[in-house]
This record gives sequence, structure tokens and C-alpha cells, in this order.
Amino acid sequence: MEKILLINGSLRKESYNGKLLRAVSNELAKTTRFETTFCPNLDLPLLNEDLEGTNLPQSVLEFRSLLKAHSIVWIASPEYNGAPSGPLKNAIDWATRPPENLWAGKICVISSASPGALGGARGLIQLRTILSGIKCWVIPEQVQCSVAHEAFSPDGALQNGAVVKQIQSTLTGLQSFLDWR
Ligand SMILES: Cc1cc2nc3c(=O)[nH]c(=O)nc-3n(C[C@H](O)[C@H](O)[C@H](O)COP(=O)(O)O)c2cc1C
Repeated sequence: MEKILLINGSLRKESYNGKLLRAVSNELAKTTRFETTFCPNLDLPLLNEDLEGTNLPQSVLEFRSLLKAHSIVWIASPEYNGAPSGPLKNAIDWATRPPENLWAGKICVISSASPGALGGARGLIQLRTILSGIKCWVIPEQVQCSVAHEAFSPDGALQNGAVVKQIQSTLTGLQSFLDWR
């Protein structure tokens, strides 16, 4: 089994990105290849180098060890002002710090849900660059769930068939990468 960690860049309770990750988890379950874990929300203290070394906050230690235990990460993040969310960037930064950049060598899938027409495309361009810069393998496929306020049913199920297809083709891309690796 391949261990995959699902990370939501939003802290919002009714987050569309959280719902998108639920749909991702449903598709992952169909393959029987993956053991899926949802990362707890990224409500970490703001990065402060004064807290590094022996003073690392407990929540940061927990996030770091969860990340360390997974070789594959699927991120869904809101786009805030054209960029990945602050909580996500903060968590990414915490996990790059000594004693070890824990992102190095991770296989990453990126996705975004937004009520807007572009589905967070601008934020994903930046997220791909950031993750590549910290030595992640970011697969070429990605998921952009646009008009997210209409994409989910009241019980949170993804009802936009085009986005389901995007998740499926992205998952195919991930599996091809894993086979090639
Ligand atoms: C500070 C802020 C900036 C935002 N900027 C963008 C943006 O640049 N592009 C976009 O598509 N949506 C933007 N939005 C709207 C978010 O896409 C929307 O709030 C979305 O529901 C957040 O994701 P979530 O549902 O997973 O929490 C912004 C929202 C906030 C709070």
C-alpha cells in the first residue's frame, strides 16, 4: 500500500477544498493501492525562527512527523489573492526547517477549489514552483474545481462530473508516476 496524506490549505469548516479532498479520497479508495490519511487542519503557529530547535511547538512537531510518515501528498488549497493560502505556506515552511527538509523527495499532487471561474489556477502555478523549489516531485496533472459553490451537493458530495474526471485523470497520472519511479 502507498501511504498518501491529504492536506487542506483552508481552515474553514465548510471548506470547498475539504470537500474536494473527500472526493479525492473516494477515488483513491476505488484503486485499493492507497492508504489515505487526512491531515488535521493546518492551524499552526506562525513560523518564528525563535521557536526553532528545542522549542518547536507541539502542533508543528505533529505535522512534521505526519509528513515524514508519508511519501505522497495530495494538497487542495484555496487561492487567496492569486497565491496559495497563508496556512498552507506556513505549514510548508515549518516542515522545511532543520534538522531536515521533510518535503525533499515527496511526490505531490496539487489541486484547488474556488467559487471563481479559474478554480485557483494562479495559486497552483505558485504552489508548483514552491514545492519544486523544496525538492518535491510535483506531477504534471492537477485539479482545478471552478464554480465550487455549485460543485457540491448539500451533503458535500462532488456533483460536477467534469471535476470528477479531472480527479480520475490526475490519479491516473499519479499512478503512472508511481509505476515509473
Ligand atoms: C483573503 C481572500 C482572498 C481570496 N482571493 C481569491 C483569489 O485570488 N482567487 C479566487 O479564486 N478566490 C479567492 N478567494 C475566495 C476563495 O476562493 C473562497 O473563499 C473559497 O471558498 C476558499 O476556499 P475554502 O472553501 O476551501 O475555504 C479569496 C478569499 C479570501 C478570504
